[in-house]
Amino acid sequence: MQIFIDSASISEIEKWLDMGVIDGVTTNPTIMLKDGVYDMERGAREIAALVNPLPVCVEVTTNDLDEMIAQARRFASWASNIVTKIPQITEDGVPCYGVIKQLETDGIKVNGTAAMSLGQVILAAKAGATYVSIFGGRVADEGGNAPEVIRMAVDWLEHWDYKSKIITGSIRSVGDVLNAVTAGTHIVTIPPQFLYKMADHKYTRETVRQFLDDAEKALQMMESVTGAG
Ligand code: E4P
Repeated sequence: MQIFIDSASISEIEKWLDMGVIDGVTTNPTIMLKDGVYDMERGAREIAALVNPLPVCVEVTTNDLDEMIAQARRFASWASNIVTKIPQITEDGVPCYGVIKQLETDGIKVNGTAAMSLGQVILAAKAGATYVSIFGGRVADEGGNAPEVIRMAVDWLEHWDYKSKIITGSIRSVGDVLNAVTAGTHIVTIPPQFLYKMADHKYTRETVRQFLDDAEKALQMMESVTGAG
């Protein structure tokens, strides 16, 4: 299983990359805006160079299907490890699977994004998407059972031997991460704040504090016995 970081912050990406725990990066226009990346090309190039050869997902910014293809070709020309995010449908409900098929046929990797249902996962996989992103948090927002959708999607892909890998995104808590992982997601993309929360535990802090205190006490005992120090 892989972990991607759901961020456009160079400092956070670099930090978690150096710790050896991330296998790729996902972004979208909202994440870029939040992280102060207003020049999309510059930001995407910088992240791609930093994590090369790991994948960096960059999302198209249009409802027009031809323009999606043109944007994806531009993204691919910026760096070989950029994967283009194509939504399942436009904001008006027009299916984008033809775009996915065209790009994958041309050798441009696609992340079929904003999937909320098993049906969408099936169509994106049929179109040849390298990745399909299930937005777990948004599925749950509407009362859906995100782990169930993830489990069914992974089972379906494996049963029929499709190459697509499920990325679970829209993570809102560490519990969401664990639910996605136990449901069998191939990849979970985690915002930095939840990576910190995953690492932290008050009892681990207390345990480390106890060991450091006792090491200090032992040093003092040794110095008092030997007269050293
Ligand atoms: C990742 O690929 C998604 O774009 C991201 O996780 C969406 O998260 P959100 O539902 O919190 O916007």
